[in-house]
Amino acid sequence: MCLVGMVRRVPNLTKSKRRSRFEARLLDAGAEDSHATWGERKSAVIGAMRGTVVELGPGTGVNMRYYQAGTRVIAIEPNPVMHAPLQTAAAEYDVDLDIRQLGGAEVDVADESADGVIGTLLLCGVDDPQQVLREAHRILKPGGVYFFIEHVASPARTVNRCVQQVLFRPHRWIFNGCEITRDTEACIRGGPFDVVEIDAVDRGRGALWVRHQIVGTATKAASHG
Ligand SMILES: C[S@@+](CC[C@H](N)C(=O)[O-])C[C@H]1O[C@@H](n2cnc3c(N)ncnc32)[C@H](O)[C@@H]1O
Repeated sequence: MCLVGMVRRVPNLTKSKRRSRFEARLLDAGAEDSHATWGERKSAVIGAMRGTVVELGPGTGVNMRYYQAGTRVIAIEPNPVMHAPLQTAAAEYDVDLDIRQLGGAEVDVADESADGVIGTLLLCGVDDPQQVLREAHRILKPGGVYFFIEHVASPARTVNRCVQQVLFRPHRWIFNGCEITRDTEACIRGGPFDVVEIDAVDRGRGALWVRHQIVGTATKAASHG
């Protein structure tokens, strides 16, 4: 019975590895566009973080260039296919990287030990976004900031929204669970953080289904009574 289970799992594993490699290639292909849209914002926020930063779902390492050289980054990345390119990117930008093959819902980082937490294009693909936000809040030092960028559901009754509805299932399959119609702004505003600042951005170009994005910070109060 055990053997049957093993034999049956092999094709699925192969398929998901292939899909993961495809996802990694697509992330790399979209990196320049991402830098063009978000480079300035990322430089300002990520570049200002010092000490130990936890990045949830860093993928192939698109954010590595924004850290100050020497920053200690704990990378919570469940997909091992991402690990080699992530290490390469960290080495290129002199980031002190510690990869942990875990999901963001249960992070092996001590309470109130992180100076900053980052999640870009993350909450669209996790099973329980609220739990991930609770973990980010738990590990942040008082006064610490969670920086996020997320693609979100386009406004109702727009062409973009129709396209999202049509592509919802294939997109979720190709991108290992990524859902393009999530209301992530409401999710973050309803989360555990004390101050949430969000800018909604229509990128005005690129793939219609990920054109509407949010960027911002969620801050943990300086002291929790
Ligand atoms: C769309 S990619 C974004 C990669 C990168 N952050 C960026 O901005 O391009 C999502 C990443 O989150 C990772 N991921 C998926 N589920 C996760 C989870 N539960 N916790 C942490 N990371 C997760 C995926 O493996 C993938 O590397």
